[in-house]
Amino acid sequence: MANSSKFGATWRPDRIWFGGDYNPEQWPREIWDEDMTLMQKAGVTVATVAVFAWSKLEPREGEFDFGWLDELLDLLHANGISVDLATATAAPPAWMAKNHPDSLPVTASGVTLSTGSRQQYSPSSKTYARLAACLVSKMAERYGSHPAVISWHLNNELGCHVAQCYGEDSAEAFRLWLQAKYGTIENLNRAWNTEFWSQRYTEFDQINPPRQAPTFINPTELIDFDRFSSDALLKVYQREAEILRAATPEIPLTTNFMGLFKYANYWQWAEEVDFVTDDSYPDPADPQHPAQTAATRDLMRSLARGKTWMLMEQAPNAVNWRPQNAAKPAGMNRLYSMQSVARGSDGVMYFQWRQSRAGAEKFHSGIIGHAGSETRVFRETAALGSELAGMQEIIGTRNHAKVAMVFDWESWWAIEQPAGHTNLSYLGNFMTWYRPLFDQNVLVDFVPPQGDLSSYDLVIAPMLYIMDDRTQQNLADYVAAGGNLAVSYQSGILDEDLAVHLGGYFGKLREVLGLWVEEFAPLAKPVRSTKPLPEVALSGSVSGKGKVWTETIHATTAETLAVFLDGPSAEGIAVTRNSFGKGQAFYVGTQPNKPTATMLVNRILAEAGVYSEFGFIGKGIEIVRREDKVFVMNHNDQPFELPAELAGKLGIASTIAAYDCLIGIHHD
Ligand code: GAL
Repeated sequence: MANSSKFGATWRPDRIWFGGDYNPEQWPREIWDEDMTLMQKAGVTVATVAVFAWSKLEPREGEFDFGWLDELLDLLHANGISVDLATATAAPPAWMAKNHPDSLPVTASGVTLSTGSRQQYSPSSKTYARLAACLVSKMAERYGSHPAVISWHLNNELGCHVAQCYGEDSAEAFRLWLQAKYGTIENLNRAWNTEFWSQRYTEFDQINPPRQAPTFINPTELIDFDRFSSDALLKVYQREAEILRAATPEIPLTTNFMGLFKYANYWQWAEEVDFVTDDSYPDPADPQHPAQTAATRDLMRSLARGKTWMLMEQAPNAVNWRPQNAAKPAGMNRLYSMQSVARGSDGVMYFQWRQSRAGAEKFHSGIIGHAGSETRVFRETAALGSELAGMQEIIGTRNHAKVAMVFDWESWWAIEQPAGHTNLSYLGNFMTWYRPLFDQNVLVDFVPPQGDLSSYDLVIAPMLYIMDDRTQQNLADYVAAGGNLAVSYQSGILDEDLAVHLGGYFGKLREVLGLWVEEFAPLAKPVRSTKPLPEVALSGSVSGKGKVWTETIHATTAETLAVFLDGPSAEGIAVTRNSFGKGQAFYVGTQPNKPTATMLVNRILAEAGVYSEFGFIGKGIEIVRREDKVFVMNHNDQPFELPAELAGKLGIASTIAAYDCLIGIHHD
């Protein structure tokens, strides 16, 4: 069911969203009034309400109590705060498990997950679906015309804790999904290659979800289960959306995504929401996080395809769920908020407004902490609220990227399956390519394998493990028409059923790349050695070091840019360039280490004629342009001296403080 709503790329919020999850049901009534005063002081424009309120709204099955929520919405409205109203279906009350144990999720090893936490429902449970639909209908009926409500927040972080369920309802839904996909059991047998290990089926009802089994499970079954599970979670959203679209067609819908979340194919999900929202929890202690978080922002902007996207959740300070929960130093809260705005967000929201006093999240930061509001975090957040209030003209403005990276959930699922190549990380390899672009301040869009590539000067396809005919054609057409394509190792290995492309891999892309691959020679860490993972030297017009992977490459028409100097593929080809049609294609048969990746990306950018507007300014300095506004961000814990010419051109100070963001204007 594609999005049938009237909200296209034209819907925009009428003010920047600033606020966050507000759970006053955890607090006595008198606190609510204090909350209103403080929300105004902080410049809160939107509160997300009722996310975990099901047990309060329906204390017993079929018995509803909306009185407190009526009062809350009226209070927010009276204080000029809009409401992103949750459907409250994320955490079923305990009565559901007691009355309907079939609603509970089951793991691959047959363990039923119990109550006392949250999200204890199977996405495919018929009982859960029925009871959730009943609640959503009541919410729509009661609040659909409430003047405070500006959006529906469907469920919450779908799949966050239970991404895949292996119980009976899931098994039944999986069989129906397979039947709809394959039509006949013979088609399934062919696609799954069930002659292998005597796996042939004669009826759909012989098929189970990939529950714990003696050894490796059929890989095509596994990926079909990944596809099904993403669809099953999406269906939870779609069932709610159907009710809400019928009842309140004038209110836009969203559900909060979780960045680079493995189990949901957000390319499909993004079609269904009226605006994209994302939850983002970078670890302040992780030096890789500026780039990784930038990548998730770019993904969200790309998923939105012109629609609004917003940062729906972030922590004002520390989280409580890592082994070590680093605090955000002064400035970092604003810095990450501005990073999202720079990369296209029209809102900055938090989890949560008031830090809980008890419960599993009592040590997760809130805008108002345990110490109250006379705090650094409150002051910093309130200052940001007032700054954003003065930036309304940014709403709906666009970022323009010349480089795209192909991002494919299915390749991610497939390459990390068991019984493949150990130690291959889809995101690890993706970031190998993204990071140098980030460092060079080159903005990147994400594109799906069959997406429109025509507006990009350079397209990078890292580990595009699965390439069906249409994807091969899409990439080939792009190059033929003059595009510049860079492809990494372990791309084009399998078709959509996970069968190998015979004859040297790549399918049609063999001609585009001008090569074929005879043999893989991954760089395994020697058994019983304590030495770090091995690297191989690369030499040629591109030189440096590769890790993780080597292979035997035969060039047909490609020119060699580097060979492996040592390692299992010594003297063999490592990096190539091939002219095809009006364009060119690069191939990299290893995972370059950081300096090599930087050199390689610079070389490819130069050959593709892509010039970064700002270039590399300094370690930890990020620059992003959103139309005429240029955000200059310092992720370092020390001040940084910007080049005087750049500062002058943008009209900003030439010294940028630690964790600061300066916003300049580009006049052209
Ligand atoms: C999110 C979730 C919130 C809260 C937050 C804590 O995953 O949506 O409800 O638990 O994490 O970081």
